[in-house]
Amino acid sequence: MKISKLLVGLFACTVSLGVYAQQPIVIKFSHVVAGDTPKGKAAEFFAKKAAELTQGKVKVEVYANSTLYKDKEEMEALQLGAVQMLAPSLAKFGPLGVREFEVFDLPYIFDNYDDLHKVTNGPVGKQLLAKLEPKGISGLAFWDNGFKSFSANTPIRMPEDMKGKKIRIQSSKVLEEQVRALKALPQVMAFSEVYQALQTGVVDGTENPISNLYTQKMHEVQKHLTLTDHGYLGYAVIVNKKFWDGLPADVRKQLDEAMVQSTRYANQIAKVENDQSLEAVKKSGRTAIHTPTAAERAAFKKALVPVHKKMESRVGKQTIESVYQATGFNPNAL
Ligand code: LMR
Repeated sequence: MKISKLLVGLFACTVSLGVYAQQPIVIKFSHVVAGDTPKGKAAEFFAKKAAELTQGKVKVEVYANSTLYKDKEEMEALQLGAVQMLAPSLAKFGPLGVREFEVFDLPYIFDNYDDLHKVTNGPVGKQLLAKLEPKGISGLAFWDNGFKSFSANTPIRMPEDMKGKKIRIQSSKVLEEQVRALKALPQVMAFSEVYQALQTGVVDGTENPISNLYTQKMHEVQKHLTLTDHGYLGYAVIVNKKFWDGLPADVRKQLDEAMVQSTRYANQIAKVENDQSLEAVKKSGRTAIHTPTAAERAAFKKALVPVHKKMESRVGKQTIESVYQATGFNPNAL
């Protein structure tokens, strides 16, 4: 009797050890946008690649649409180790104390994706990611979204049309200054709250790439959208450094490869996703879309490029100049 009990116990123990040995390493990947956005799709792609390349040793659980954490909370959760991976927009690193990331928010600093990639794929991008390490965070990659447009309930043709409007922005001092340069009122707000704030009139307008506008249905509560393309919005994929460094070396290598492939995928689909969202907004008939004339675009540039100089002390003159050098941007050639 005693022996059979022992055998049963031993068997249970072996089984549970076996199960334990097969328990995957779980990576919780939290983000705030919809699943069918450039970031949402890239996060799912990474989850798939990670499972494939580690042969099931790693399970990435993706939590989209702020279901796990909102903007501010997710940064704290990453540092505490409650989640392991995030991809916050580059405009959300200021509150962490890494102000240099706000260089990406400077209006018109990138003309197109090619210029942007000269920074994100080059030494400047590397140096920026390295600034996260003292915060207990490792930066793995930059993922694209796209160029932002302004929306509101009244037409936006010229900078003056923004005057006095309450505009929702992300938590970036550069974006605050950008909105002030248009004599509008910046209102920092978590992404998850924007739709309702627009619907109830807490804010009058916002700025986002079209994929975010469309997938959050903001076009249903914004009558006018002007394709200003006045600034860039993209992401840094980040992990809790202690967690990442503590992974078995072979697993980390496989995940690094999964990230390389996911980054390629993310940056391939970003423009297409935004173009498709624009078509969908057009088709909805809910929002009047305006493409600025050359004169209107020039007026916005004239109003907004001085923000670069104003924010030198915030972002760092050297960081701004290193971006100018990488892209060839000349703030005086307007
Ligand atoms: C926003 O808050 O507008 C964006 O950062 C959302 C996102 O992650 O694309």
